[in-house]
Amino acid sequence: MYQASSDRYQEMKYNRTGQSGLLLPAMSLGLWQNFGEDRPYAAAKEIILKSFDWGITHFDLANNYGCPAGSAEKTMGRVLKEELSAYRDEIILTTKAGYGMWEGPYGDGGSKKYLVASLDQSLKRLGVEYVDIFYHHRPDPETPAEETADALAGIVKSGKALYIGLSNYGPQELKEMAELLKRAGVRCLIHQHRYSMLERQEKRLLPVLEEEKMGSAAFCPLAQGLLTGKYLNGIPEDSRAKSSIPFLGEDSITEGYLKKARALNDIAAERGQSLAQMALAYALWDGRLTTVLLGASRFSQIEENLGALKALVFSGEEAERIEKVLGEGTAD
Ligand SMILES: NC(=O)c1ccc[n+]([C@@H]2O[C@H](COP(=O)([O-])OP(=O)(O)OC[C@H]3O[C@@H](n4cnc5c(N)ncnc54)[C@H](OP(=O)(O)O)[C@@H]3O)[C@@H](O)[C@H]2O)c1
Repeated sequence: MYQASSDRYQEMKYNRTGQSGLLLPAMSLGLWQNFGEDRPYAAAKEIILKSFDWGITHFDLANNYGCPAGSAEKTMGRVLKEELSAYRDEIILTTKAGYGMWEGPYGDGGSKKYLVASLDQSLKRLGVEYVDIFYHHRPDPETPAEETADALAGIVKSGKALYIGLSNYGPQELKEMAELLKRAGVRCLIHQHRYSMLERQEKRLLPVLEEEKMGSAAFCPLAQGLLTGKYLNGIPEDSRAKSSIPFLGEDSITEGYLKKARALNDIAAERGQSLAQMALAYALWDGRLTTVLLGASRFSQIEENLGALKALVFSGEEAERIEKVLGEGTAD
C-alpha cells in the first residue's frame, strides 16, 4: 500500500467546477495514452502515484483508453486496489462512453443500453463501486438526445456516478443536452473539449459553458506535445509523433509549426519558463478553464508541467506578443 506524501496539498491550485461544490486541481492526469497493457505497469504506476503526491487528485479515463481498449481502466484499477485504496475519498475518478467499444449494435453511441452497460464494465475494470464523473464522450446524432439524458440521469440516481459530464459537444448541442439533463433532474457538471494555445475555444464554446455555469476540462492542452520543446530540434524516437498513434504524426512537424513554436519558446524563455509551462499557464491564467488534462509518457514531464503554476500571470505586452505569434486565425 502506498504512503502518499504528507505535502501533497501544498502546491496545487484547486478550482471550483462551474457552480458546483466540487473542486478540481488546475492540473489533472489523463490516461488516454501510455497507461494500457502495451506499456510497462511500473512506469504507469509511478506516474499515477507521483502525480497524486503533487496534489493531482483527478484522473481522467474512458472505456476505450489504453491499448487494447479498456486496459487503461485496468491499470488504474490495479493501482487503486494495490496502492491507493486508503485514498479513494481523496480521488476524483472519471470515465466515459460514447465511441465504439464492443462489437454489435450496442457498443457505440448514446443509447441507454450502451451507456449503462459500458459504465458497468468500467466499474469492474476500475474495481470501484462508483465513478465521480461519468461522461457522454461525444454527441450521437442517431440517438434521441432525450434518451441519452434519461440514461445519464438514471446513472446518477443509481449511485454509479456522482456527477455527469459531456465531451466533444458543440455549443448548440451542449445547450440542448444541458436543458434535457436539468429536466431529467441532474445538472451537467463539466464539459470536456480540446483546448490549447493552438486550438482555442474562446469565442465558440467557453461562453456557453459560462452561461450554463458548467466547469471546463481542456484536453490535449499541449497539443499532444507540439507545445513543448521536444520537437524543436528534430523528432525524438520515443515521442508520440513517431508512435503508431494516428492522431499525431511526423507530418505535423512542419516548417510553419516550427517557426511558431520557436517564437513561443523564445517568449517562454524570457518569462523563465519552458514552452510547456508557458502553454499551460496561458490556458489557465484567465480562470475560464477548471482544469487542464495532462498526458505524460514519464513523470518528469508532469514535474516540469507543474512548474507552470508558479507563474500563471501574463503582462499585457506578453499576451500581445503571444497572440501575434499565434495569429488571429487560431482563435475560433
Ligand atoms: N474527451 C476526449 O475526447 C479526449 C480526447 C483526447 C484526450 N482526452 C483527455 O486528455 C488527456 C490528455 O491528452 P494528451 O495526452 O493529448 O495531452 P497533452 O498534454 O496535449 O499531450 C501529452 C503528451 O505530450 C508530451 N509531453 C507532455 N509534457 C511534456 C513535457 N514537459 N516535455 C515533453 N513532452 C511532453 C508527451 O508525449 P510523448 O509521448 O511524446 O512523450 C505526452 O504524452 C488524455 O489522457 C485524456 O484524458 C480526452
